[in-house]
Amino acid sequence: MSTQNKIVRKTTADIKKMKAAGEKITVLTAYDYAMSSIMDECDIDIILVGDSLGMVVLGYDTTLPVTMEDMLRHTKAVARGAHSALIVADMPFLSYQISVTAALTNAGQFLQEANAQAVKLEGGREYADVVRKITSAGIPVMAHLGLTPQSIHQIGGFKVQWKKEDAARRIIEDAKIMEESGAFSVVLECIPVGLASEITQSITIPTIGIGAGVNCDGQVLVINDMLGIYDKFTPKHVKKYASLNSEIKKAVKTYIEEVKHGEFPDSEHSFK
Ligand code: KIV
Repeated sequence: MSTQNKIVRKTTADIKKMKAAGEKITVLTAYDYAMSSIMDECDIDIILVGDSLGMVVLGYDTTLPVTMEDMLRHTKAVARGAHSALIVADMPFLSYQISVTAALTNAGQFLQEANAQAVKLEGGREYADVVRKITSAGIPVMAHLGLTPQSIHQIGGFKVQWKKEDAARRIIEDAKIMEESGAFSVVLECIPVGLASEITQSITIPTIGIGAGVNCDGQVLVINDMLGIYDKFTPKHVKKYASLNSEIKKAVKTYIEEVKHGEFPDSEHSFK
């Protein structure tokens, strides 16, 4: 967003207005300066520094080992590259579960030290007091319901849940509780399309879907998935907009060939 060449940062108020105006909200994850600069130039609405970085950048099997130190370092890098998108930092496992005070301290670090404008945390009613405390301190919160990867061992795998009626009712209630507690938006992950539509209609804050169908107010994807970089596992909801894994392999193999055969560097890439 730019006014007379001055870049203006999108705010949580702008994001909420988009729902009211029926304008879809675009969200992608980023973990470093280079990627966030590219996305910002494309005018993405929100950049999420997701704790998915544990899996797609740091090579862990789950998001559980990700630390505050990891998240702060990557959020700082993303913030250096993005001047127009709203930057949301994911609160890692155990950074908000232990106490409301610790949650506020950790959330504050993302704004104070890492230049994020909001934080995201996973969970429903059990974190209502945490969301209330953080938002009342002036820190915007994006909630995250449905498949919450930090609870993967309790859920029993990366799969669509909430097909049963009582579980569906519970998640609608959770979305309302998050709204009442002050969250400015809510991520819905791996939720059946009909249920995600019902949640979207039940609350005034935007829903951001990932594997939750087209009726959410916005969509989010993990950048490494949508660019086809991470090829160990592709969830059903991921559309690959590029095949960078094979593009990168092609480039690296060509480089190796050319160096081995003395074709690189040629005169064009050498100093006389
Ligand atoms: O960590 C992450 O990237 C996320 C998105 C998948 C919503 O939480």
